[in-house]
Amino acid sequence: MLTDKTIVLGITGGIAAYKAADLASKLAQAGAKVEVVMTESATKFITPLTLRSLTNRPVVTSMWELTSEFSIEHVALAEAADIVVIVPATANIIAKLAAGIADDMLSCAVLATEAPVVIAPAMNVNMFQNSVTQDNLAKLKDRGFTIIDPEYGRLASGKMGLGRLAEVEKIIGIIKQVLGRSSDLAGKRIVVTAGGTQEAIDPVRYISNHSSGKMGYAVAEAARDRGAEVTLITAPTSLPEPVGIEVIQVTSAVQMKEAVAKATAQSDALIMAAAVADYQPKSTVKGKIKREIAGADLTLELTRTPDILAEAKGNFLRVGFAAESENLVENAKDKLQRKQLDLVAANDITAPDSGFNVDTNKITLIGKDGEVEDLPLMSKREVADKILDRVAGLLPPPSENSFEVILRPVMVKNHFIGIPALQKTLFPPMNTALVLLTEVGAIETNIIRRGSSGGLKLTKGLIKWFKAHPELKPGDKLRITVLEPMKRYRLEIVKLEYRK
Ligand code: PMT
Repeated sequence: MLTDKTIVLGITGGIAAYKAADLASKLAQAGAKVEVVMTESATKFITPLTLRSLTNRPVVTSMWELTSEFSIEHVALAEAADIVVIVPATANIIAKLAAGIADDMLSCAVLATEAPVVIAPAMNVNMFQNSVTQDNLAKLKDRGFTIIDPEYGRLASGKMGLGRLAEVEKIIGIIKQVLGRSSDLAGKRIVVTAGGTQEAIDPVRYISNHSSGKMGYAVAEAARDRGAEVTLITAPTSLPEPVGIEVIQVTSAVQMKEAVAKATAQSDALIMAAAVADYQPKSTVKGKIKREIAGADLTLELTRTPDILAEAKGNFLRVGFAAESENLVENAKDKLQRKQLDLVAANDITAPDSGFNVDTNKITLIGKDGEVEDLPLMSKREVADKILDRVAGLLPPPSENSFEVILRPVMVKNHFIGIPALQKTLFPPMNTALVLLTEVGAIETNIIRRGSSGGLKLTKGLIKWFKAHPELKPGDKLRITVLEPMKRYRLEIVKLEYRK
């Protein structure tokens, strides 16, 4: 997803500047065009030559350096950027950006850009916790910047404290997530399951399978990178928790079913890549079963686990996997029908390098319409994107002048409607009056900006509307249609039954 993206990487003068080299290298290897801008103090910690060698691009260190292609037209970088990332961000650059000071190439580029800006602060704990720095960060958050909080650990001073640069992998995850906001799954909520459930026999033993979780995690990460809000419900795996994804850890099929029911109440699609155990012990033995007591043979009585996918209720798209060792297409088609799926990924688990606990997979996609797409052996990430191509095609596209908002508990409680960052261009600037046409009449309201996600908030006058609809609950869907740009909008309740 980073291929052909222009990432302006600002590096400022802190000891963590050397970690920006690792970041630049990983972004460039992932296919991004990385344009590095270094402040003068950053060049005291790491040389421009290092960054130039890693990115294969000239590095900008000054506005007055006539050899650089970006030096004279100082807004060219700002315009070329798909995203601006500052790693590490010192207290000094944070203060300059908060105050709107533009006295070097980096601060000019940030002030001039319309691209999203991500900053990863790293500094001495006292500098970070100083109320001036905190106020400056709050200002930047309020303006829609994404702040990657520093972590606790050993600092350059030798002291332990909050101020260490976030891990490079985390920064990359957040860059992908921010870039994904304008992709084909932006605004969609997708629930993914992964891993093999464990069904307890006694406190130390369980029944499970060879699922590593790799397939499900790949689907979750790919959906995140395409702009979806993702909930990953995972049975135990040894994989690290992906960044920018809500992760719910479960153990058994019964727990997974409960988590799926809760998460899908507000989702657009469920993709079940988990290998759910089909049977569980009828009862779990309380103490450890002793071989001396159990004797030579031990009989376990098993009972069926719930069929999570078949029993999932609600108005969302259903995608299942079918792990098959024979009659792949027939068996998968049967599962598609029995479980009332929109799409099934028939997984040939007998093919070499396919199925459980490997990095690649061999899949045949079968749609509800009967269309069969036989895919070659691919990485699990590539398979995930193929599945999501189909999911994106099956979900209703976001309309140019109409979009849906799902009510969150905080909106119902505090009587406001949150507008996702993706739709903010449909609205006028802050504090400009606009009218919402509703079934209880015209409501005069205005926009205030919402926290770090860059979205907006409609608050004024909405208490009246919420009070007229005591039936509204979190999870209900609203539709907002632009009737007259920047002035008049229609507000409708789309689906109360959405949460059933
Ligand atoms: O995790 P990896 O090591 O990467 O391996 C990937 C995988 C092989 C596990 C994955 O690609 C895969 O095929 N997952 C589905 C495995 C499976 O349980 O298939 P199934 O044919 O038994 O089940 C069909 C569908 O019903 C699946 O979507 C499954 O999640 C779901 N199911 C199954 C049983 C059950 N009790 N409840 C369910 O919801």
